[in-house]
This record gives sequence, structure tokens and C-alpha cells, in this order.
Amino acid sequence: MAQGYASGKVILFGEHAVVYGRPAIAVPVTDVRAQATIMPGSEGEGVVIDAVDLDRQIHVRKADKNDPLAHIVRLTLDKIGPDLDPDLTISITSTIPIARGMGSGAAISTAIVRALGKELNRWFPSQEISDLVYQTEILYHGTPSGIDNTVIAFEKPVYFVRGVTRQVFWVGKPFLLAIADTGIESSTKEVVGDLRRRYEAEPERYEPLFARAGEIAAAARSAIEQGDTNPVGRLMDENHDLLRRMGVSCPELDRLVAAAREGGALGAKLSGAGWGGNMIALVTEETRGRVDMMLRLAGAAQVIITQVR
Ligand code: MEV
Repeated sequence: MAQGYASGKVILFGEHAVVYGRPAIAVPVTDVRAQATIMPGSEGEGVVIDAVDLDRQIHVRKADKNDPLAHIVRLTLDKIGPDLDPDLTISITSTIPIARGMGSGAAISTAIVRALGKELNRWFPSQEISDLVYQTEILYHGTPSGIDNTVIAFEKPVYFVRGVTRQVFWVGKPFLLAIADTGIESSTKEVVGDLRRRYEAEPERYEPLFARAGEIAAAARSAIEQGDTNPVGRLMDENHDLLRRMGVSCPELDRLVAAAREGGALGAKLSGAGWGGNMIALVTEETRGRVDMMLRLAGAAQVIITQVR
């Protein structure tokens, strides 16, 4: 019985701007994770995915070619050997909230690649996992930048510029993030597509916002590497303001961001695609309790306090 795991993620800086070639930073969130467990299947059935949480069974042979879970199984088997079609059941479970910008789709795909690799004795390096999972991100998200599959496959903080570089970097001094869920599902594909249409109509309006978001991501990386969290909160606040001006926030996210600041957070911003999903706030041991309470009072469906290291 082989098992594969993958953690969730949050984008710290630069979401959306990253789709347009600007730098962004993402970190793994190991408090939540997806798990794939391989068991013997029924003879002659090929691979069957048992998505326990979704109450769904997917027969890979018969599945639509656009089904992301069947797709990652096919891609992985193709990498392991030609015409490989073993009789296996892959049971998947996940504690990563779905459609909240925490990378649940990429994490499930990563867990499947890792589990199949273990079961069939093929070791997949992180970059290869990331490249495979990117193919399923296209099915989920349309035009993904690739940051989600990268941070999840490497399970380290990453500085990412689409098509140019991905650098794993070190956190000079661990820090705490509160991650609060608006409770509103958000489709990355929809938000990214909507911004794309607005951008194409008025590029001169959005270019400066993307450019500044990229500068912020680069400055934040230096501060985080040096273990100087002081400027990080301020940069989060500024990045949130840019995201609002990009038209990807919503009243619920703005309310949680304001509540976190009121509770004493050093900074706060939406994280991921926006229009729902999660926000993040920079907190300390002293402020975490109060920020957590303020976020819940302001309507957060869930609050996770996680350490970034
Ligand atoms: C989604 O987690 C982050 C976005 O920047 C989209 C992407 O990078 O593909 C909104």
C-alpha cells in the first residue's frame, strides 16, 4: 500500500501579476494536506480513483480527457512505462479547502504522482512532478502561471517568475501567518479570465499595478531572507491595495483584511485568485489570539495559524 502526500500553499505576494510575467512568492502550508493511497484494484478494471471526500469514483480508462485526476494518472503512467495500465485503486482524501486558493487541485495531483511513483518504483524529482502537475493545472485554471504546482512540488518557499526562474529560498527568521477563509468558493479560471479581458481592454491601467506588485514581491523576498519581518506587513497592505485596484477583491475579503489589521496584524492581504477564498495576515505570538478572534467575529469560516519557515 503506497502513499503519497502533498501540502497546501498560499501566495504571499504577486498573485495575478505573476500571470503577466512579474515575480511572485508562495509558501507551502503543511498544516493541511492531500493524501493518495494505492490499493490493489479489480482485475481488468485498470486504475480507479476513489475521491472519498467528493463521493466520486473515476474509472481512468473511461474518463473524459479533460478530467484532471484521470489526466494526472495517465501522464504519470506514461512517464513510468509505455502502455502501462495496472489494476489499482487510488483513494484520495484532503484537508485542503477546495476552491480557496490553497492549491487543493495541485496538491491532490502531486500526491497521486508521488503515490504511483512509490507503488511502481519510479522516483520523480520535484521538477518533474511540478511539470506533470502543471498539465492538470491547465485543465483546472486555463492559463496558470505555474507557481502553485512549483511551490507544492518543492514544498519550500519559492520566488517565481513565469517561464524565467523558480528559486527556492530560505526564510531568515520563521514567522506566523493567519490564513482566514471567507467561506466563498472562488474559481481561479473565472477571476483570471475576467482580469484578462479587462487588461486587454485597458492594458495601460493594469500594467503599472502588475509592475508594482512585482517590485513588492522582490522586496519582500529580500526582507524575508534577511529575517526582517517589519517591512513585510507593510508590503502586504500595499499588495492588497493593488489587488483591489485590479478588481479581484470582494467585500468579504476586505472585511477580513480590515479585521486582521484592527486585531493588531502587521499587514494583511487577499491570497490567491480573490473574489472569495482566503486572506492572509502577518501575526506574532502576541497578536495571534486577538487577530484570530477578530477574523472569526468578522465572519471567517475558518482560521489557520501557520508558521512559515
Ligand atoms: C492562483 O493561486 C494564483 C494566480 O496568480 C493564478 C496563477 O498564478 O496561475 C491568481
